[in-house]
Amino acid sequence: MAPVPDIKTPLPGPNARRLMERDHAVVSPSYTRSYPLVIERASGATVEDVDGNLFLDCAAGIAVTCTGHSHPDVVPAISQQAARFLHMSGTDFYYELQVRLAEEIAGVAPIEGPVRSFFGNSGTEAIEGCLKLARYVTERPNIIAFLGAFHGRTMGALALTASKTAQRRRFGPFMPGVFHAPFADCYRCRLGLTPETCGAECLEFIEDQLFLHLVAPDEVAAVIVEPIQGEGGYLVAPDQFLQRLRELTSTHGILLVDDEVQSGMGRTGRMFAIEHAGVKADIVAMAKGIASGMPLGVAAARADLMTWPAGTHASTFGGNPVSCAAALVTLKLLKESLIANAAAVGAYLKDGLTNLMARHPLVGDVRGRGLMIGVELVRDRQTKERATDERNDVVKAAFARGLLVLGAGSNTVRFSPPLVLTRAEAETAIRIVDDALGEVEAAGAR
Ligand SMILES: Cc1ncc(COP(=O)(O)O)c(C=O)c1O
Repeated sequence: MAPVPDIKTPLPGPNARRLMERDHAVVSPSYTRSYPLVIERASGATVEDVDGNLFLDCAAGIAVTCTGHSHPDVVPAISQQAARFLHMSGTDFYYELQVRLAEEIAGVAPIEGPVRSFFGNSGTEAIEGCLKLARYVTERPNIIAFLGAFHGRTMGALALTASKTAQRRRFGPFMPGVFHAPFADCYRCRLGLTPETCGAECLEFIEDQLFLHLVAPDEVAAVIVEPIQGEGGYLVAPDQFLQRLRELTSTHGILLVDDEVQSGMGRTGRMFAIEHAGVKADIVAMAKGIASGMPLGVAAARADLMTWPAGTHASTFGGNPVSCAAALVTLKLLKESLIANAAAVGAYLKDGLTNLMARHPLVGDVRGRGLMIGVELVRDRQTKERATDERNDVVKAAFARGLLVLGAGSNTVRFSPPLVLTRAEAETAIRIVDDALGEVEAAGAR
């Protein structure tokens, strides 16, 4: 086994450089490329680039490859299904894989009672399904989402997304009927509360402001929430926030939509992040990790809600049989060992990153659950001034040392590795982040 990471060329290397030039001529420049990684192959948590450099992957293709890259059980399931048939449109015809997957999802979804699933191809398509179902079944037009939320980029989901203005700029006007409320940003609690004193008072905005001034609760179809805001900066909603949200929505006959696109599929040490709070949702969005990298999105709902008749909603490719085959193996691996590994190695990684606070004043907060960990960087721990440039520099310095991490929010480094990450790999990641922080702090001091 070659040691990982192993960086042999300047980055980008010559082959990477050539491919990037070709890309820049013909591929949309709207993609966010934080650093010049050009992948050749990958396995587990190791990524090899086109110049033979080996990287330790703590990004997992934006929290997707939960079973590790090209897991030896997932790849044959994909190729065997590909040889059988590639497509038959599960929205027009039947095949067993889609039924089996819906049965599996019904067994794990954080929803009370029987569950039905709608299949799409991506997170944003799952969210569109959730949105449309909520409006259809309640016959109410309005949706409440949270500031900082990321729910996708198609026009319905984008109306809910309130993460970065660049994602919305020049794309409006947006779907009407969307209201945003403050999320539980506990590191920067505007109410001055601490986890011990917090009763999720930030949610009072919904009843005291939105319901009073802007929208009657009986015209609200759904509240949609990420139990841990992903793109928003890996912000962990406290249990009482989700519990109180459940109470509030139930009181007014509003559906609770749980967006688990990033936090789901075992990443937090439970199958779904909302389980940590003991809360059940009415509708749940899943994607990213569900099929180990094959495209699949799911809107799962209480069976008594998902009663829309034939023709109301469908998707040509949704629930593709190859993706379903990958998802079935993924769920099996998650249950067998990977959720437990995410909890154990995640706790180890979070401890190690938290210990870095003693040496690195740039680190303002370390938070997360399982292998969904955010390290928020600040210029000053008192003022909590966001260290955006420094965050970007830390991500690049980690890349230069062979560690793949991504940013989240404006000043947080996110750790979303494959759930196969070992303790030894977590230790390597901690060491590299330690060095990267040191380099950026030294540059700032000069
Ligand atoms: C919580 C959440 N919801 C929805 C989406 C949209 O998923 P996709 O990019 O697959 O459309 C994302 C993507 O990052 C996400 O993190």
